[in-house]
This record gives sequence, structure tokens and C-alpha cells, in this order.
Amino acid sequence: MIIIVVEMQGRYKIIGNVALVRLDVNKTITEKTIQDIISKNPNLIAVLGYRGIRGEYRTPVVEILWGKLPDEIMHTEYGVHYYLDPSRLMFSLGNLYERLRMASVVRSWEVVVDMFAGVGQFTIPIAVHARPKIIHAIEINPIAFDYLLKNININGVENIVTTYLSDCREITKKIEKSADRVIMGYLHDTIEFLPYALQCISKSGGVIHLHQLVRKDEKEELIQRIINLNSTYGFTTHILKSRVVKTYSANKIHLVVDLYVVSQVN
Ligand SMILES: C[S@@+](CC[C@H](N)C(=O)[O-])C[C@H]1O[C@@H](n2cnc3c(N)ncnc32)[C@H](O)[C@@H]1O
Repeated sequence: MIIIVVEMQGRYKIIGNVALVRLDVNKTITEKTIQDIISKNPNLIAVLGYRGIRGEYRTPVVEILWGKLPDEIMHTEYGVHYYLDPSRLMFSLGNLYERLRMASVVRSWEVVVDMFAGVGQFTIPIAVHARPKIIHAIEINPIAFDYLLKNININGVENIVTTYLSDCREITKKIEKSADRVIMGYLHDTIEFLPYALQCISKSGGVIHLHQLVRKDEKEELIQRIINLNSTYGFTTHILKSRVVKTYSANKIHLVVDLYVVSQVN
């Protein structure tokens, strides 16, 4: 088992014994650069080239530049353990603060829905640190789902998390207006899924955390689209805050908007 230590080093990251080099940033990588990384990090067993994430399952596009990749690695942050497969599943080290923030805002009486659970990036720290009444964790990719189950198990939170291997649009309508909080941790066209988040919001209202990749100048436009869409579905919106989770590229940011919504018909 490999324990991961997280550190940022310029245009590459060290995850345990593996270096991840961003090939979308470093357009070309020379043998010398790879050798430099290896000599500065003597414990490395592999150097992976990373070209971003693709498709519905948000799968990383990677290639091995040097060494041999282990089938599985274990990452530990703030008392939470995650089994990961960096060559097949996305795990963003840049979202660390957001994972901690989620674990700190959830209260013990809450019903939480994690619509895009992945390997449990939000579900597990919330379950471990906040211990809410229940977390409904939904994931469509069977590979990520297997890791979600594994991570629930190693962190001992089976009694808090209910899992669904499914499209979240099929599940939210079955969660019967009981959610105090819905996490929408998906970056592309997340707003398209907002009507499905509204379906499970408690009659007394609830908080939604909507993540979206936007141009730096698009933030206000996104917020207005959220308010308008909610209104179409009969919900009043109070924007609580928005924050930049990370810079994604030269002109794009990963934004999270926190909003409180309440149905106008109750
Ligand atoms: C980018 S990952 C993010 C995981 C985690 N929420 C985070 O922010 O770190 C998004 C996850 O959503 C899953 N996903 C995509 N579409 C989905 C859908 N319609 N229903 C449920 N899960 C979905 C993908 O398979 C992927 O594991």
C-alpha cells in the first residue's frame, strides 16, 4: 500500500510515488525534464503525463512517461483515506480546500445528496467529519462506484452513506423532497442538472453547491442563469456565496456557487 503525500511542484504534482506532469501545459516534455523530475524525487516509481479529463465519466487522459504504475494507490488527507487509480479516475488535488469546506458546513441533522460522487471526494470527508443523518451518494461510472464502495468501507461510514450506481437524474426524483443539501460536483454543463437537484430539495428549502467551469468573466452570467432557471421551476434563490475552487486554464476557472433555494408553492 502506498500512502500519498500531496505537494505541488511547479507544473507537475507528486502523488505518493508518482509524478503527474501536465502535458496540456508543458506542450512537449524532453527526456531531460523527465530525468530532472526523477533525480529531484528519488522515491518515484512512475512519471505520468496528464492531458486533462474527458467524457461523461471525466476520465483522465494519461500516458506513462517513465517507470511502472501501481494498480492502485492510497491517498490520505485530514484523516480521510481514499483508494485511487490515477490512470483511470479523476482526483483533483486542487480541490482539497473545497473537500474540507464541505466537511465543515454540513450539520449532523442533515440529509445530503452527492449527485456526482466519484470515488467519494465529498461524500467520505463529510461522512467522517460531519456525520450527517444520511448521504445519498450517486455515481454513474462502475469503476468509480467500486472505489466509492471501497472508500466507504475503509473509512467505516457504511451506516451513513447510501449508494446508487446510476444516473443521478434517475435517483433525485426518488429521494422525495428530503434533501437539506445537494452537492453538484461536476464541471461541465452542471447547470443542465439543476432541475434534478431541485426535485429532491426539502419542502423547507435547502442548499445547493453548484460547481461549473466558466470563463473568468462569466461568473455573473452563470449566477443569473441559475436564478432564472430556478424561478422557471418555481423556486426562489438566495445566492449565499461563490468561490473560485481553482484556476483551470489561462481564461477558465472552476467556480462553486452556494445557493439556498426554497419552493414557492409550499
Ligand atoms: C469530475 S468527477 C468529480 C467527483 C467529485 N464530485 C469531485 O468534485 O471531486 C465527476 C463524476 O461524476 C460522474 N457522473 C457524470 N455524469 C453523471 C450522472 N449523470 N450521474 C451520476 N454521476 C455522474 C462521473 O462518472 C465522475 O465520477
